[in-house]
Amino acid sequence: MESVMRDMLTRIGGYERCVTEFVRISSTVLPPKVFYRLCPELKKGGKTSAGTPVYVQLLGSDPALMAANAKVVAKLGAPGIDLNFGCPAKTVNKSRGGATLLKTPEAIYEICAAVRDAAPSSVPVTAKIRLGFDSDAQFEDIAAQALKSGITELTVHARTKAQAYRPPARWQRLRDIANPDQTPIIANGEIWTPSDLFDCQTQSGCDAFMLARGALCRPDLARAIKAHCEGQPQEPMSWAEISELLLYFFEANGALYQRKYAINPLKQWLVYLQYCYPQAAALFAQVKRIRDPDDMRAALLGATAALAA
Ligand SMILES: Cc1cc2nc3c(=O)[nH]c(=O)nc-3n(C[C@H](O)[C@H](O)[C@H](O)COP(=O)(O)O)c2cc1C
Repeated sequence: MESVMRDMLTRIGGYERCVTEFVRISSTVLPPKVFYRLCPELKKGGKTSAGTPVYVQLLGSDPALMAANAKVVAKLGAPGIDLNFGCPAKTVNKSRGGATLLKTPEAIYEICAAVRDAAPSSVPVTAKIRLGFDSDAQFEDIAAQALKSGITELTVHARTKAQAYRPPARWQRLRDIANPDQTPIIANGEIWTPSDLFDCQTQSGCDAFMLARGALCRPDLARAIKAHCEGQPQEPMSWAEISELLLYFFEANGALYQRKYAINPLKQWLVYLQYCYPQAAALFAQVKRIRDPDDMRAALLGATAALAA
């Protein structure tokens, strides 16, 4: 999730932490500007404007290089470092990064241990895995190797790489992790509604959860889950509120990057929003061919004004 979305979602509420998209570590120690670009929050104490910490995620296979980059990230003030062992992308996997490391659990240990060793002990190091690569046969070993390294928390996307993003998520497999030090385990995958989260809790035995696509489809999902837990279920945000967020998202991305680069993220977000808001489908149809930032701004303003009328 990128910085403007993180800022918006954490202001809506319900989140305790965010993680950046991954930075690929392949052959060098990256300069600070790369980390600042991915995580502008580093210039503001590593937190979103709502005060939610943002961990920087690294993806790579060379323990020494990952450790050297982790040192840079820690020095820049990241409140935590997360290690990615779940990315299914072919380009990433070809260079031995992401999910391909699930085939060699001991390599996951080496990377986690090297980063844990290099980062100051005050900086949490967390890892994110899947159940396995082609199958979940090695899942217990993958989790054990990650936990043995002394990481602070382990997030499990409850699918194999081969299962990609297809439902269901196998939440119950998280109960099979041997966890002698009681390291917190965070369950991830297929949480779209508050009731999905309660099902996930029952099946996985976890009490911490990571939201991903669900948060894009329903921007108030984390807040709604919290409200449910407190026995005060809330109505989902209205389309009028979402329309204002869309305009904000577009303008804020335009201010951060060149304005033309704000167009595609907006279209991508509309695709996700369609799952909860049929109005997003109509707006997507209206704007999908727009290439000019001024035209996009006018379309969004028009949509907001039509709702206010
Ligand atoms: C477009 C896209 C980009 C993603 N990028 C990352 C990433 O950079 N790092 C990461 O750990 N997971 C990434 N993920 C995976 C999600 O964090 C999450 O594990 C996955 O979508 C399953 O959760 P969900 O079913 O709630 O979406 C990405 C997923 C999608 C769909």
